[in-house]
Amino acid sequence: MFQHSTTLVVSLLAQLAASTHNHEPSLDHSVFATRADNESLGYRNPLWPVNDRVEDLLQRMTLEEKAGQMFQDQIAIGTNYTLSEGTPPGYPIDLNSTESMVGDKHMTHFNLLSPIDNAGKVAGWYNLLQQRALDTRLGIPISLSSDPRHHEADTFGASLSPGVFSQWPESLGLAALRDPKLVQTFAEIAREEYLAVGLRSSLHPQVDLATEPRWARIYSVWSEDAELTAELIVAYIKGFQGDEFGPNSVSTVTKHFPGGGPVENGEDSHFVYGKNQTYPGNNFDYHLIPFKAAIQAGARQIMPYYSRPIGTGYEEVGFGFSQGIVRDLLQNSLGFDGIVLTDWTLLSDRTLFGLPFPARAWGMEDKTEHERVLKIIEAGCDQLGGENRPELLIDLVNQGLVSEDRLDRSVRKLLKEKFLLGLFDNPFLDPKAADRVVGNPEFQRIADETQRQSFTLLSNTNNILPIRERVSGSAVYIEGLNQTTVEARGFKVVATPEEADWAFLRLAAPFEVRDGTLSEYMGFQQGSLEFKAAERTRQSAIYSTVPTIVDIKLDRPVAIPEVIEQAAAVFGTFGASGDAFLDVVLGEAKPLGKLPFDLPRSDKAAEAQKEDVPFDTVDPLFKFGHGLQYNKA
Ligand SMILES: *[C@@H]1O[C@H](CO)[C@@H](O)[C@H](O)[C@H]1NC(C)=O
Ligand SMILES: *[C@@H]1O[C@H](CO)[C@@H](O)[C@H](O)[C@H]1NC(C)=O
Ligand SMILES: *[C@@H]1O[C@H](CO)[C@@H](O)[C@H](O)[C@H]1NC(C)=O
Ligand SMILES: *[C@@H]1O[C@H](CO)[C@@H](O)[C@H](O)[C@H]1NC(C)=O
Ligand SMILES: *[C@@H]1O[C@H](CO)[C@@H](O)[C@H](O)[C@H]1NC(C)=O
Repeated sequence: MFQHSTTLVVSLLAQLAASTHNHEPSLDHSVFATRADNESLGYRNPLWPVNDRVEDLLQRMTLEEKAGQMFQDQIAIGTNYTLSEGTPPGYPIDLNSTESMVGDKHMTHFNLLSPIDNAGKVAGWYNLLQQRALDTRLGIPISLSSDPRHHEADTFGASLSPGVFSQWPESLGLAALRDPKLVQTFAEIAREEYLAVGLRSSLHPQVDLATEPRWARIYSVWSEDAELTAELIVAYIKGFQGDEFGPNSVSTVTKHFPGGGPVENGEDSHFVYGKNQTYPGNNFDYHLIPFKAAIQAGARQIMPYYSRPIGTGYEEVGFGFSQGIVRDLLQNSLGFDGIVLTDWTLLSDRTLFGLPFPARAWGMEDKTEHERVLKIIEAGCDQLGGENRPELLIDLVNQGLVSEDRLDRSVRKLLKEKFLLGLFDNPFLDPKAADRVVGNPEFQRIADETQRQSFTLLSNTNNILPIRERVSGSAVYIEGLNQTTVEARGFKVVATPEEADWAFLRLAAPFEVRDGTLSEYMGFQQGSLEFKAAERTRQSAIYSTVPTIVDIKLDRPVAIPEVIEQAAAVFGTFGASGDAFLDVVLGEAKPLGKLPFDLPRSDKAAEAQKEDVPFDTVDPLFKFGHGLQYNKA
């Protein structure tokens, strides 16, 4: 079904690649107009083998320059696309200035926090940033990374809304279509948009399994099923990295090792109350299946999660601090020799939305910052995320607690990535090409088609859908939809269910708000999967008045037997526009989604599940794989 669009997109991608990338090694490129140029340094020579360039550069580096590589922090675009002088207005977190991080701390890895609302201007900012890096003593270029930005979800510290990028359903919606080719097409398009603005590392895919339905981070995983996740993320990694890792690649960070799904009581380990991970079903290995597939597929980087495992035999510290998890399991036993990047902020206490945001040093809370760094380095990690504290690592080397050889082992991998990505040879972007590529109408067309297909039809009483008759002039009561969009289809929007022939409700999934806490400000949706009594009563009054089509956004499983019973038809969706909804309701597009997880019947059923075991909810409302088709022609 995607063959048509896939062929189109492949040729489009080839055209774009020809017009936007130029990888011929060229000795007179502007990169050489730097101070370093004057020393005619060997590592700058694009004709040398990469490993030789790495060794040449490494032996020229000071301890400070090496330590700087091992930290990756958040970076923002400054006002009017300048280099940021700290926290730009409107940012909820305290940031150090770009100058202090690049100039003083020798850092060259950052994740971009800012929205991408103008691709050409972002590319211009990127060129400024890259020029600043090239003006340092050795001219080591910047590597920029990003959380997912192709989906609706906007959760501080975990995902950003698309801005001018093409907008797709969440990964769960791609998984609902069970189509690795489509996943690869998505990843190739996302890669083109990333490359156009200089994002060279993706802080995803998130391959955790949705075995604990209450977890707030399910919206950006793929499935409850390990095999399905493994199959799809191999296509994803291939799409982002390409067949061969090189100057057209985006380096993927597969997370969160060894699987972040089994969080105790469904809480999240960003927060003090969610620090534990637990395996009551002895099902630890199941969560490794997607990681094994990712390693096999050539995943470049892996990120351990914040959680600490309880009762597994592993040390009860956050996974990034754990030698048993990183060195013994990931590196020695699973054979991963790529970059291990910790999750953000394991060392430093910060402030977020004006509230204290303590370091996620679970199991290491009473240790000093130096002790935490030492533990992370001894565990085998190569880079500390969400931190700009190279001075701590430098102290450890000066005290003889960490050897410079140990730094070299990590820095070698980090530099090699930059050489392979072509950052030394082609550090600058073409802002005009960025404008052309990003948000390209053909990309959005395929994304729109995918949004529609990912609709998952849970119930359709008496085949009420699609609505084909009596549209023109019929009265509809709406929630979660734009009146103009609905009236453009010939409906008349009315103010109450009583006046209506139809009701269309696009509902957010239920969750618990913890007022005034970071989880609220960050947008984490956790706790109960049921609608509260008052909301149920409110909805029931609509359902009993008028035939109602419900679309519920499944950013987690939901427990809604009463909605299924009373509404005329119910969709589960994963991030789709109002127009997509109307197209599917009116039969202009077909819903093809299949649930990527079980839907439990109640909170009680969810609580009774073992955190680490898939498909163990008693008497599910709907099973994994459920999804009706329209049977009207
Ligand atoms: C290279 O060295 C020359 C002579 O010392 C100097 O004039 C020039 O500015 C230097 N170029 C760069 C880019 O630093
Ligand atoms: C940003 O640019 C606008 C328009 O050129 C200008 O009015 C404004 O003063 C600039 N802001 C800063 C902080 O430079
Ligand atoms: C900024 O850098 C200083 C010096 O390394 C450090 O102490 C401080 O924690 C940093 N602040 C932030 C917000 O990263
Ligand atoms: C985590 O597990 C430990 C050890 O079983 C327990 O003492 C603690 O209460 C649990 N929960 C949290 C939030 O630490
Ligand atoms: C509804 O859509 C119209 C047309 O696209 C737009 O102008 C308007 O701002 C939207 N209204 C809301 C409340 O989003």
